[in-house]
Amino acid sequence: MLVRDISEMKSIVKDLKRKGKTIGFVPTMGYLHEGHVSLIRSSRKDNDITVVSIFVNPLQFGENEDLDRYPRDLKRDQGICEKEGVDYLFYPSYKDMYPEGFSTYVTVEGITDKLCGAFRPGHFRGVTTVVMKLFNIVKPDRAYFGLKDYQQFKVIQKMVRDLNMDVQVIGCPIVREKDGLAMSSRNKYLSDKEREAAVNISRSLFEAKRLFESGVTDAERLKERIIEIIMSSPEVREIQYVELVDPENLESKEKAEKGDIIAIAVFIGNTRLIDNIQL
Ligand code: PAF
Repeated sequence: MLVRDISEMKSIVKDLKRKGKTIGFVPTMGYLHEGHVSLIRSSRKDNDITVVSIFVNPLQFGENEDLDRYPRDLKRDQGICEKEGVDYLFYPSYKDMYPEGFSTYVTVEGITDKLCGAFRPGHFRGVTTVVMKLFNIVKPDRAYFGLKDYQQFKVIQKMVRDLNMDVQVIGCPIVREKDGLAMSSRNKYLSDKEREAAVNISRSLFEAKRLFESGVTDAERLKERIIEIIMSSPEVREIQYVELVDPENLESKEKAEKGDIIAIAVFIGNTRLIDNIQL
């Protein structure tokens, strides 16, 4: 069922809570892919009711980013939600989410300065603000996030802990195309040549993991090999970062240990892609 109105969504949630139903929530920006479907399936497994939201949140896009061209297709997304047994598709409007005079923001400090946060000022403030609003509307017992956006997952987990919120934040494994490319709505932007170049991102991460497992722990050596693989393609415009980080506080490390994360952000042409792997 499609719900556009915030107060209608709140009254549905109130009714469900009164009946003792558990609510699983999958917040998205739409243009759903297999990654989102895996979140929906996890939610359906763990909860009585599953709510998916679609809202392309302008607050988390920088001035020169892809807000205007971000892919949108409600009909298609509705079809996927129906097929996957989603109970409610929440689709609020911009003016209801951010009415005139809106001026309250949620900021998680520290871990938002690193990785993507360093290159996308204000991005995580936009994410935490909208996710807080969506949590207040949907009041989920559990919320599902893809681990492709590993930093986003940790930031939201921290927000929920720091603010004593009653929602369990669950990270779900990255879903990849057959050749390894991490699923993303932004993959749609890639030309055929760029799509070929993009596969080197995951390939480089798998190779780094293989090197780690064969005994290489020096971050510089792992990073060098990753950069070499990614830069082998002329479609790559820029590597924003390749970092070996602690999985909890996202601090950079010099020596790799099991459980650490290697995270990457790359521009292939005008498309910014991220990916990561856990060692
Ligand atoms: O990961 C996303 O799609 C977005 O950042 C989210 C969590 C839906 C907030 O707008």
